[in-house]
This record gives sequence, structure tokens and C-alpha cells, in this order.
Amino acid sequence: MKEPVIFDLSRKGRRGHRPASPDVPSKPLEEYIPAEFLRREHADLPEVPESEVVRHFIRLSNMNHHVDKDMYPLGSCTMKYNPKINDETSGLTGFTALHPLQPESTVQGALRLMHELAAQLGEIAGMAAVTLQPAAGAHGELTGILTIRKYHESRGSRRTKLLVVDSAHGTNPASAALVGYDTVTVKSNAEGRTDIDDLRSKLDESVAALMLTNPNTLGLFEKDIATIERLVHDNGSLLYMDGANMNALMGITRPGDMGFDIVHYNLHKTFSAPHGGGGPGSGPVGVCEKLVPFLPVPVVERHDDNGTTRYTLSADRPSSIGRMMNFHGNFSVMVRAYTYICMLGAEGIRRVSENAIINANYLLGKLTGRYDLPYPGPVMHEFCLSGDRQKKQHNVKTLDIAKRLLDLGFHAPTIYFPLIVSEALMIEPTETETRETLDRFASAMLQIADEAEQDPEMVKNAPQNTPVKRLDEAQASRKLNISCPAC
Ligand SMILES: Cc1ncc(COP(=O)(O)O)c(C=O)c1O
Repeated sequence: MKEPVIFDLSRKGRRGHRPASPDVPSKPLEEYIPAEFLRREHADLPEVPESEVVRHFIRLSNMNHHVDKDMYPLGSCTMKYNPKINDETSGLTGFTALHPLQPESTVQGALRLMHELAAQLGEIAGMAAVTLQPAAGAHGELTGILTIRKYHESRGSRRTKLLVVDSAHGTNPASAALVGYDTVTVKSNAEGRTDIDDLRSKLDESVAALMLTNPNTLGLFEKDIATIERLVHDNGSLLYMDGANMNALMGITRPGDMGFDIVHYNLHKTFSAPHGGGGPGSGPVGVCEKLVPFLPVPVVERHDDNGTTRYTLSADRPSSIGRMMNFHGNFSVMVRAYTYICMLGAEGIRRVSENAIINANYLLGKLTGRYDLPYPGPVMHEFCLSGDRQKKQHNVKTLDIAKRLLDLGFHAPTIYFPLIVSEALMIEPTETETRETLDRFASAMLQIADEAEQDPEMVKNAPQNTPVKRLDEAQASRKLNISCPAC
């Protein structure tokens, strides 16, 4: 990698920024901070002019793949284009300068935004109420499962198991375990959907809920959802939907209408907040009427008195599972999602899902025949190919195909997930890609299929055109070295 670390660009005395001299009397630091907490030596910080800092980070960002550079078909992650207006609204001083401890009367706009966003999300998924507190999808799962536990406790029942389908995201069983449930895996059938007989055989009075992703991680709609709903509810269990794939449903159908009791949303996927790199995210949770009393506090309430509207925060919910986050959740992500929903309107929201589905099926049509498709479509917003043929016939693994895509200018799809597909390549084009971009991506995939047959070494030695070549990924996660000379 050619780019030096910022410490190597440092030259003594170079400055990027000079703070203005204070226009108030200054006092020694010791008068503010106890001496034992003060640094004794100067921090070894890089000294670099602003122009070089900007260029350094632009060069680094150019080396990286990102969604503003080209298509990022990372299945299940919905790496779609995030409209820049979202950043503008979330950067408005009226929002960024707020403090969560300000009196309610001074944050009426923020409370209104939260109240309206919760209502919009509730409408989209057909849920009676929504909490915006959880900070990610997995955190939403945790919130939802705590709600499930509280619901059963409130009925004096102690159920110990959660059912999770084998195609589910790994966070589902992890969240269940965190709450203390035993997870029982339900098998997928030959079509890639929930195996109804297996589900039936695992439902008994110890089952608190079934967690289901719809459409599932193969991009397939669970078309037996009505039967699943009846079986689960007849058993006295709840039905949880992992709504990370909501971008395939919006404006077309609603989890609440399918009988789901709880759903989490990923604002940082479906509702266009940038993600990757650790956040911030937001994983609101919607619930049906009977679960509303268990939602986290505080809740934003709207009061209409004598022609004026006022919003307050209420913690007066004796059955609540409690707080899931400091203050109110990741507010800037909420502003982005609110902007996105208001900009699109009901019609636009539906077109998002329609286009996500059309794009996935268009791309699938171009790739079928050259890659195996273990579970046939038509699909919803994503699909899962298998690199089995390339591996068996040419010893080219899915990992090699993913690396070669980087050479051709694309981020790789999600690979080796879901676990029920061997050599999985899970592709989610998203609705924001044009037909021309989909065609370019399809050409790259077809070129790799040709290379695997005619020049397998080319694929196995990829990537060659990237700033770093093939990394030892196991070593990278076991021996993290973030390259700071001062460390
Ligand atoms: C289907 C599904 N469920 C849950 C999650 C967890 O969401 P998060 O990464 O925001 O915790 C993901 C994330 O990739 C997902 O794809």
C-alpha cells in the first residue's frame, strides 16, 4: 500500500488549524481538572497542514470501495445509495446542537420528528406502536425478545425456547441466547422456505416465539406465512419478524397484516442511513396492540389541547422492559430516515420495493445458467447463487470469485452466508442501481465465470489491481495491527 500513515506525513511545526485566542480570562488547567488526570507529556500527535490531511483521507477513500464509488451488492446489507439531502437535514444546527437533557419545551421539533417517524414506520409495517431506541438490528432483536419474555411472564408462563429458521442471520440465535432462551433450529425445505412439518414438530408449550425473516435471506418470500402464523399462534407463541429485508415489502404488504407480533427495522439499510464501519445505526421495533405496554421507556406522547399540540416524554409504563439506550437512540439516523420517507411519500416508498425486486430478478436472469442457483426464484430483493460448480470443476472457490470482483471495480457480494448454501454468493443489487450498472456487474460476473474455466489461476490470484493484494484474513482478525507507530 503506497499511502503512508498520517504520522509519517507529520513535520514538526506544521499546523492545520490555529484556534482563536480566547476572549475571556484564561485559568491554568489544574484549576479545572485534578492534576492526577492531566497529561504530563505532550501527546505525540501528527503535525500536518489541512491541505495534506484532506488529500491523505481522499486518497485513502479512493483506495477503498464505497457505495458512492460503485455498486456494492452485499446481500442482506442493502448497501444502497443514501441521498445527500439526508445528511443536510441531519446536520441542521437545530438538530445537532440539541442536548438530550434540555427541557421538553425546547425540543418540541425533535420530539415531533420522533413521534411522526414512529407513526410512519408503524404504518409501513402495520404495527400498533414503534420504539426508536435500539441502536442496530441486533439491538432491535434483543429489545423484541425481551418484550416476548415480558409478555409471557405477564401471563404467568415461563417458556424457555425460541425457534429460529436455519437460514436466519446469526444475530437471531445470538440475541435469543443473550436473553437466556434455548434456540431450536427449524429446517428449511427443498424450496429454501420454512419446512412446515419441521416447524410443527418443534412447536410445544415451551416455545415462546418463532423468529422468521421475510423475505428470508435467500431472497424468498415465505409464501406459507398464513399457515405459519396459525401454527405459532395456536401454540400460544409469538411471531417475530426480522425486518432487515423490509425493502422488499414496503407499500406492497405489511408484516402486521401477515400476523407478525413484533418486527425490527434496520433504518441503516432500508431507510438509507449510511452504514458499515460500525455505525451509528438504528433498529426500531414495532409491536402489535397487546405488546404496546411492554415497549421501552421513555415514550414520546402527543397531546392536543385547545388547538395546540405538545409532545412529552413519558416513562409512566409500569410493564415496560425498561430503557434500551441512553437517552433516546441514535437521533441523527432518525432524521435521515424521516427525511427519506417524507421525500419519497407513500407512492415512492412502494416504488423502492418494486424496483429492488425488479433489479434482483433482472440480474438473476443474467447470471442464471453460469452459476448454480440452489433455490429457484422468482426472488424478492436479493438472491443467493452457489459457486459449487466453479469449485468442483475448476478449483475456484467463492472467495476467489469475490476477490476477482474487486479487481473489476465492484465490492463483493456477501459470501458463505446463508449457511444452507454451499459456496454461497448472496447478491443484493438494491433499487438505486441503474440498468447500465446492473449490466456492468453482470458482465463482470460472467467474465469471472469464463476465467474460472479458461484461466483459473487468474481468479485464484486475485486481486491484483487493488492497493493491497490478498490478505490473510484469519491473521487479520486474530492479530489486529492498526499501524500506529505510537502504539
Ligand atoms: C437479516 C438480518 N438480520 C439482522 C441483522 C442485524 O442487523 P445489525 O447489523 O444492524 O445489527 C442483519 C445485518 O446484516 C441482517 O442482514
